[in-house]
Amino acid sequence: MKLKDKVAIVTAGGRGIGRGIALCLAEEGADVVVNSFHQETAASVAQEIKAMGRRSLVVPGDVTQIPVINQVVQGALKTFGKIDVLVNNVGGGGRPKEVTGMLEQAAAEWDGIFALNLRATVLMCRAIAPYFIKQKSGKIVNIASMAGRFSSRATPASYGSVKAGLIRYTQYLADELGPHNINVNTVCPGLVYTDAWVTGAKRMVETRPEYKGMDSREWFIALNQGKFPNIVGFTPLMREQTPEDMGRAVVFLVSEDAKNITGQALNVDGGKFKN
Ligand SMILES: NC(=O)c1ccc[n+]([C@@H]2O[C@H](COP(=O)([O-])OP(=O)(O)OC[C@H]3O[C@@H](n4cnc5c(N)ncnc54)[C@H](OP(=O)(O)O)[C@@H]3O)[C@@H](O)[C@H]2O)c1
Repeated sequence: MKLKDKVAIVTAGGRGIGRGIALCLAEEGADVVVNSFHQETAASVAQEIKAMGRRSLVVPGDVTQIPVINQVVQGALKTFGKIDVLVNNVGGGGRPKEVTGMLEQAAAEWDGIFALNLRATVLMCRAIAPYFIKQKSGKIVNIASMAGRFSSRATPASYGSVKAGLIRYTQYLADELGPHNINVNTVCPGLVYTDAWVTGAKRMVETRPEYKGMDSREWFIALNQGKFPNIVGFTPLMREQTPEDMGRAVVFLVSEDAKNITGQALNVDGGKFKN
């Protein structure tokens, strides 16, 4: 086991990629603090972790909010006495706000995407850095996206730009924290059929005439294999990625095997993008 007796925090760990990461960390021996928006989702992952023989703490709530960030960090320290690993998984398209007018809509969208995909991670890193510096060790992995590596007409500019910012922030933080024996890296997932994608795929088959009659899962597989022109194109390995793929990449980056890797962004996308 690569992470025996380590304590890890995973934000937005109740479903999808976050859940996959939390379970992979536990599989390698880590105790895991699971944050998620809803109590039930976080608690159900914590149950799975306990069934594997590890300890787990549930800290529900909106991790874009400073009091919740403090609860996560303080809860981890109080319960386990230390923190070794922080995985900032929170992110995504955000919750649509009710606003009128194009400019107001654009401002609200950019603010929401920034808060969820970058600001929350910056604040979480700032909350944890003093402890990592004091203990002279720590591992941070931020979950970005291939949308942060390259622009695509299929992805909103706000999401791609902010994920690109997250990759660059990771590099700055790696510079700042490196002398304290703290590694900071990014994982960039490709296409993972989580609830976020289920919703998006359903919308496509329901609203676009060219996909009419398709099942949402069938649409996602065709997308992943590059069967629709101008959407994602051809992925060399011709298969989708999974939450476990992201979890295994995170395990590697926070393990001793990666002790000399920092400031990097690792694409886990079936080979679609090459840098
Ligand atoms: N799926 C992909 O193909 C893909 C590709 C590239 C990058 N990513 C990135 O991977 C990460 C995870 O995406 P996903 O697809 O796994 O998402 P998902 O399936 O939609 O899961 C989202 C999780 O985040 C939690 N959450 C949402 N807002 C939160 C908040 N403000 N505070 C705390 N928890 C919150 C949800 O909590 P509840 O369950 O409690 O409601 C849920 O557990 C994101 O950063 C996303 O940008 C995903």
